[in-house]
Amino acid sequence: MMKLMKKIRLHNKDFEVYLPAEKIRARLYELARRLNTELVNKDIVFLGILNGAFIFAADLVRLVDLPCAISFAKVASYQGDKSTGIVHELIGIVENLEGKCVVIIEDIIDTGLSMDHLVELLRKKNPSEIHIATLLFKEEAHIGKTRPDYTGFVIPNRFVVGYGLDFDGKGRNLEDIYILSAEAGPVD
Ligand code: IMP
Ligand code: MG
Repeated sequence: MMKLMKKIRLHNKDFEVYLPAEKIRARLYELARRLNTELVNKDIVFLGILNGAFIFAADLVRLVDLPCAISFAKVASYQGDKSTGIVHELIGIVENLEGKCVVIIEDIIDTGLSMDHLVELLRKKNPSEIHIATLLFKEEAHIGKTRPDYTGFVIPNRFVVGYGLDFDGKGRNLEDIYILSAEAGPVD
């Protein structure tokens, strides 16, 4: 059986492999090694951000060799009234995060504005510390205030899909990460 197709087409756009599964795996070992030494003796809650981080979180936490809790949350954004603008809400957290060492697990930080909002919402739950682990970081596009503490890969400002990340709902199940082909126009 053919294991992988190195080029794929989603919603009429062409993508090519950018980070193969083995390379992601190797980098996860390095990130986990750091977590295992830097977060020792802390009351850790890993907080995976849905939907995009579900695969990264599942793979990363299995390499962590520390006592920890694992939870998932979703950031919902909706339009408020004219005076309030966009309202952000953190949903799905049932745990008490007070005094905990929270490690956010995200799939990608692009402008970083989503992460800024997330950190702001999490602070209200009074954790003792907040750390950020992101698989991908589009550093050139970053304008946010919060920078990741643990980054899998710094990538160029181009659209990627796979390993949890989607393009308009598709592609999350791909085991490699694909990048929009250079000759293709931008996705909107
Ligand atoms: P930010 O607020 O600009 O950092 O955007 C973060 C969100 O945009 C991520 O959580 C993703 O859902 C989405 N995103 C940004 N870049 C990509 C990409 O290249 N592929 C898929 N989703 C992306
Ligand atoms: Mg996301």
